[in-house]
Amino acid sequence: MSVFKAATSERYATFPLLRRLVVDEALVHWPRYVAALVLMAIMAGATAFSAYLLGTMINAAYVEKNYREIVAIGVLAMLIFVVKAFATYGSAVMVSWIGNRIVADNQRRMFDKLLQEDIGFFADRHSSEFISRLTTGAQSVSSVINVLITAAGRDFMSLIGLTFVMVTEDPIMSLSAVVIAPPALLLMRKLVRRVRGIARMQFTGGTRIIETMQEAIQGLRMIKAFGLEDEMRRRLDTSVASVEHESNKMARVANRSAPMMEIFAGFTISLAIIYGGYRVIDTGATPGQFFSFLAAFLLAYEPAKRLARLNLDLNNNLVGVRVLYEVIDSPPGEPDDDDKPPLALSAARLEFDDVRFSYRAGTPVLRGMSFAVERDKVTALVGASGGGKSTVLNLILRFYDVDSGRILIDGQNIADVSRHSLRRQIAYVGQIVHLFRGTIRDNIALGKLGASEAEIVAAAKAAHAHDFILDFPLGYDTPVGEHGLQLSGGQRQRIAIARALIKDAPIILLDEATASLDSESERMVQDAIAELCKGRTTLVIAHRLSTIMHADSILVVEGGLIVESGRHEELLCKNGRYASFYRLQLKEQSDVREPIAAV
Ligand SMILES: Nc1ncnc2c1ncn2[C@@H]1O[C@H](COP(=O)(O)OP(=O)(O)OP(=O)(O)O)[C@@H](O)[C@H]1O
Ligand SMILES: [Mg+2]
Repeated sequence: MSVFKAATSERYATFPLLRRLVVDEALVHWPRYVAALVLMAIMAGATAFSAYLLGTMINAAYVEKNYREIVAIGVLAMLIFVVKAFATYGSAVMVSWIGNRIVADNQRRMFDKLLQEDIGFFADRHSSEFISRLTTGAQSVSSVINVLITAAGRDFMSLIGLTFVMVTEDPIMSLSAVVIAPPALLLMRKLVRRVRGIARMQFTGGTRIIETMQEAIQGLRMIKAFGLEDEMRRRLDTSVASVEHESNKMARVANRSAPMMEIFAGFTISLAIIYGGYRVIDTGATPGQFFSFLAAFLLAYEPAKRLARLNLDLNNNLVGVRVLYEVIDSPPGEPDDDDKPPLALSAARLEFDDVRFSYRAGTPVLRGMSFAVERDKVTALVGASGGGKSTVLNLILRFYDVDSGRILIDGQNIADVSRHSLRRQIAYVGQIVHLFRGTIRDNIALGKLGASEAEIVAAAKAAHAHDFILDFPLGYDTPVGEHGLQLSGGQRQRIAIARALIKDAPIILLDEATASLDSESERMVQDAIAELCKGRTTLVIAHRLSTIMHADSILVVEGGLIVESGRHEELLCKNGRYASFYRLQLKEQSDVREPIAAV
């Protein structure tokens, strides 16, 4: 499913990943770490001290029968718990703060990464895989850090403190507690490998669920129109069932250690009780020693169990960290090239020189295309579907780079100038209009950040959008909905044209800009485009005759080549490809008109 680098490489092994996490992500926040660790040390001390205090209390009550001491111990215990309460609160806040910061850092990094990808990036993979990696990954990074700090801080230090109490109270008995460790660790080692495999499967399945959901959301219209509900349900079902299955497997494997651990612990505790009783009865140890030891042992049990599971929990979460780093580490498709010289425009003359290009190796789309587009002229690309017209615009915008040949603007090869400087000089209206979430005003203003209200209205008027915008009750504040779905196709198109107009760029690329307009609005938009094109270099792709007829030059694209070029009348005289194309369209138009005329 994924084309990201497989996670098996050395780089993504447990230890290098942990080192990277601790050095890259964590060390920058070291003051908070130190604070968290200090607070955890206080917690650990308080826990160990309370075990010790229990013994003292029992001796005071049962052996010495000293009432004043008991009260003093009671007050002390209260104080210990107050200290522990604040330390617990403080360390939890610190650890969360670090975790949240790491999540935020990674979200920013992933988004930067996304912006640096080329247009072809998502042709090979589903867009939600990216989102899924981001959410799982960022969360996992913070979980791993959390597990690490908690283990190193609270659990490890508690264990040291409690061991100290145990050893001081009863050194021999403490040895028996150590016996439990080797078999427990051995058991854990075996489980780690399996947990890693299952966690990966869970992630893959989870991604598939999100993909299916996202597709269903975007294609809801089609699903309903074609009655595809059951088919979509079936697709989701397969992924959901597999994730459920993997999760159950995870539950079984990850918890497999629990019964063994409990049995080991029960065995040790029963030994401690018998031996401790023997010490009190036969060798004259105080009951306080016995109870302190037992309390310390019982309190040590939970942190010890968590430490034993540490590797397991880490590996479970590291799967998420790996999927994140795989994306962050993959080389960007469109690395920053701002160090290249900027495009210097004078006449804005655009030229294709024997350009060859293919999206996939072995299937050439452009096969040696050469033409020039002059300033103050409208050049139109026409031709059958799939001929490579939109590809020409993709290459001018450097969404893709040419395989061979050159694209020149004022004599500069666009491959040698920075992408930003190139794109800044181009206003583009794509074949599929994309509007962003927000209002109509927001969307027009995206063409020129910081545009004034007057500029926005002027652009909308020029694109013949002003009138329909004012017809909405909210006017320019009308929300367009996700992808602009709350507007009609023609309205979306005119807003996209306004967005291009406001950019006021010297080069204009229009891909079927008038495709979804009725004849009346099309004529208005044509006027707008004619106005827009004055003094600029314009390349327009259109199927409608009206656009084609007024163009200064028409290039007929077929099979990735320019097969004819000239003005409308010249091409008609030639009686070649263009002429037959034209006649076909005329016929289509009259076919449409006749029945209407007959009514
Ligand atoms: N991202 C892509 N990956 C692979 N092949 C692609 C991609 N985009 C387009 N193609 C292929 O390249 C060829 C030219 O596509 P292009 O979009 O340039 O055609 P077009 O002339 O604009 O057609 P239309 O008039 O239908 O818009 C087509 O055969 C198409 O299948
Ligand atoms: Mg196209």
